[in-house]
This record gives sequence, structure tokens and C-alpha cells, in this order.
Amino acid sequence: MYPSTTQDIPETQSVPQHIAIIMDGNGRWAQKRHLPRFAGHRKGVEALRGITAACVKQGVRYLTLFAFSSENWRRPADEVGLLMDLFTSALTQEVDKLHANDIRVKVVGDTARFGTKLEALIDQAQAKTQHNQGLTLTIAANYGGRWDMLRAVNAAIQHQTSKSKNELTEADLQPYLAMHFAPEPDLFIRTGGEQRISNFLLWQLAYTELYFTETLWPDFDAAALEQAIGWYSARERRFGRTSEQLNTAKPHA
Ligand code: IPE
Ligand code: IPE
Ligand code: MG
Repeated sequence: MYPSTTQDIPETQSVPQHIAIIMDGNGRWAQKRHLPRFAGHRKGVEALRGITAACVKQGVRYLTLFAFSSENWRRPADEVGLLMDLFTSALTQEVDKLHANDIRVKVVGDTARFGTKLEALIDQAQAKTQHNQGLTLTIAANYGGRWDMLRAVNAAIQHQTSKSKNELTEADLQPYLAMHFAPEPDLFIRTGGEQRISNFLLWQLAYTELYFTETLWPDFDAAALEQAIGWYSARERRFGRTSEQLNTAKPHA
């Protein structure tokens, strides 16, 4: 089990081990060029490829990307349909390459709503890459932070044995959270200028460093990622303690 930022004080490194990204701004990228919104989503997949490679290069261990929120069903049906087609084709075309690069693919979210064809592709991608030791690339699709927490609480209640006490602890919940296989994100990035969480990893972002950039997702490249990591490495992560405590805790301070 990974350390909890509220129960333990995790060790941190200058390169974030887990980066979670809200890839926002595809529509505006396209609109600025008088292109249909879908062109922005397509370009967004290219950015995703570049950022995955850049994370591998930087030594990031987990990259989690918000691809479709539980609220994105509210978009026009044709945009939702095109996003599903894009997800399907990306899974079909990219998995072999990801596998060859030792990348473990995970999908979190309520995928049952995607239909059997897409669900089967998701299962295949996860099964094929499950033993890979490199970067863990997680796609959050039909994911919502509230959905995740409610599901975990309900599952934990169901699995409580009659002998155990009737109050849930963090440790009881942890195995049922969608991201149970990863440490909590060190760095959160949202592109596209908005400064909100939009129901992304509500539980897991408790002590994550939050980075917001105006850059639209299709323009977010390796240099932009490097800038975000540079910003991260200058943060003092106190986890509730004082700065003085941190400095005296350092071995040769
Ligand atoms: C993010 O880009 C991609 C998804 C939500 C699928 P948007 O489509 O939200 O782009 P903007 O925010 O309208 O520019
Ligand atoms: C968040 O972006 C979801 C994804 C990037 C998948 P949105 O564009 O849907 O967020 P809001 O609606 O502006 O908060
Ligand atoms: Mg948006």
C-alpha cells in the first residue's frame, strides 16, 4: 500500500513521481484556427503522445490523464460520439507502441457506459501491458472524483466483516479507490487557463501541488512539461508542518 499524505509524511523527490493532468483547451485551440472542435481533440492526442514520451525521459513513474469526465456526457451528442471514436482509434493504434516501450496502460472510470466494443479494447490494452515495468499511463475516462469516492465507500462497507468496527478508516477505503495502484499525485497540471478541479481526483489531490497554465493542451509540449516540473521542484511540500521543521529534519542542515 502506498503512503497516504494525511496518515504518513511521504518522501518527495525533485522530479514528481506521479503527474496528473487535466488536458483542457482542445476546443479553443481549434476555434482559434477556425477549425471544428474535433480537430483540437485530434491534435490533443498528438500532445498526449509527446507528453508520455517526455515523462518517460524525465523519470516520472505515473502519468494520469483526464480524458473524459462523468459530466462530459452533457456535451452535444456528436462531440461525445467523436470523442468515443477517437478513444477507440487511439486504443487500437497506440497500445502496441506503448507495450514496446514497457508502458503499463490503465483506464479508470465507469467504463461500462462505453459499450462492449470499447470496453473490450480497454480490457485488452490493460491485460497486454499489465506486467510492464516502465511508466504507468492511466487514462481517466467517464471518471468523476465523487463517483470514485462513493463507489469506494460503498464497496468498503460491503466488505466490512461483522467482527470489524463500524467506522471506516483511510486504509479500509484505499483498496477500493480507482487509483489504488498508484501513489497520490505529486504534481497536478491543468492546461487551458481554468483554475478548477472539475471533479477530477478529489480524494487523491489532498496534498498535490497544483499548477495551472494558460497553454492550451494541443500546444503543451516537452518544454512546457519541463517548465512545470521546474516549478514543482521549487515547492516546499510541508504536509502540515512548518518550514523550520523541514529544515531541521534535513540530515546535514
Ligand atoms: C478538453 O478540451 C478535452 C475534453 C474535455 C474531452 P475541451 O474540449 O474542454 O476544450 P475547451 O475547454 O472547450 O477549449
Ligand atoms: C475537464 O475539462 C475534463 C477533461 C479534460 C476530460 P472540461 O472542459 O470538461 O471542464 P469544465 O467543464 O471547463 O470544468
Ligand atoms: Mg474544457
